[in-house]
Amino acid sequence: MKNIIITGGAGFIGSHVVRLFVNKYPDYHIINVDKLTYAGNLANLKDIEDKPNYTFVKADICDFETIMGIFKKYNVDGVIHLAAESHVDRSIKDPFTFAQTNVMGTLSMLQAAKLYWETLPEKWEGKRFYHISTDEVYGALEMTDPEGIEPPFTTKASSGKHHLAYGSKFFTEDLKYQPHSPYSAAKASSDHFVRAFHDTYGMPTIVTNCSNNYGPYQFPEKLIPLFINNIRHRKPLPVYGKGENVRDWLFVEDHARAIDLIFHKGTIAETYNIGGFNEWKNIDIIKVVINTVDRILGRAEGEDMNLITYVTDRAGHDMRYAIDSTKLQKELGWEPSLQFEEGIEKTVRWYLDNQAWMDNITSGEYEKYYESMYANR
Ligand code: NAD
Ligand code: TYD
Repeated sequence: MKNIIITGGAGFIGSHVVRLFVNKYPDYHIINVDKLTYAGNLANLKDIEDKPNYTFVKADICDFETIMGIFKKYNVDGVIHLAAESHVDRSIKDPFTFAQTNVMGTLSMLQAAKLYWETLPEKWEGKRFYHISTDEVYGALEMTDPEGIEPPFTTKASSGKHHLAYGSKFFTEDLKYQPHSPYSAAKASSDHFVRAFHDTYGMPTIVTNCSNNYGPYQFPEKLIPLFINNIRHRKPLPVYGKGENVRDWLFVEDHARAIDLIFHKGTIAETYNIGGFNEWKNIDIIKVVINTVDRILGRAEGEDMNLITYVTDRAGHDMRYAIDSTKLQKELGWEPSLQFEEGIEKTVRWYLDNQAWMDNITSGEYEKYYESMYANR
């Protein structure tokens, strides 16, 4: 029996990782440690909450004593650390919370793992601390060709007809960190702490940096679920700046599969970049989402294009993210499983089929927050 803590398991990506591990590894005991902030939602895990190999513990990762207690109580062998504040716009308004959770929370997890594992006779043997991070730590790539060029890489995700690369440079694991937002600065700092615990104490750590995820259960402040919900209600779609920024999109279940593979087969102290070779300008993705929602709702395709509303750009808005995940593909044989059009179709259908999930989140307090964010743009 392996006892594995997954932090942030009630959030978007964490819930997919918890579901995958609980279902795939009945011999493991998965302990989901989550504070249930605005972004944590136990409804994301309804289908597995009664499984015998699953335990939920409501706790703040910054609360070192409680975390230490969890390590001892469950005799923890491994950590997959996802808990974080994750939204760039919130980090611009409230950087302190991001430093507290992402930096101090990660440090608290590391220190508890270290103090607990050091007391065991086997010490680090069979242990693993896997930290989930973002490609945003690398900063922004230039958009050298706004029209797009033939990409140098082809994967299943990127072989769709819309796929283009918007520059010849990509994020590789050896790039220097140049974070721009308080969110990415805090994530960068947490990555450094994880590597420091390997280099200083010999803790068996792994870090991965992934591109933008999309799929079911994403909190609707992020681009894709927010826009699906706004199109459904015929509310304005706030496009930041000119909508020309480029992101590299990966279906969340492909990220969860990569995490499973790397947790079990990745090399200690290594970093792996995870991405889809699937670059899209925001405005192009928004048009695909509008057409898809319209079609599924039985509206004329493109009828809701008039909801597009250009608003003040995000401060320090990174121009382009594009991951080179060649190392992961070559060393561990991972690649995305879905073409983007399939992933978007699945995603839109999921949100439209699960309107109660969405309405539950977007009513009440969150609605007021969103209206005030929108009004300030
Ligand atoms: P999310 O905001 O949907 O979920 C975060 C979860 O962490 C929530 O359940 C929340 O309750 C929990 N949490 C927050 N603060 C906590 C605390 N102090 N103690 C315990 N739990 C706490 O985030 P997500 O999009 O699922 O991202 C998960 C991780 O993956 C983050 O570390 C993020 O940086 C990273 N990441 C996200 C993306 C993406 O596109 N969403 C891409 C690459 C990496
Ligand atoms: P987001 O989902 O916040 O992810 P990230 O900032 O981590 O990349 O945003 C994705 C892109 O969409 C980003 O370039 C900002 C842009 N965006 C908008 O244009 N309008 C919006 O309302 C949101 C939330 C994002």
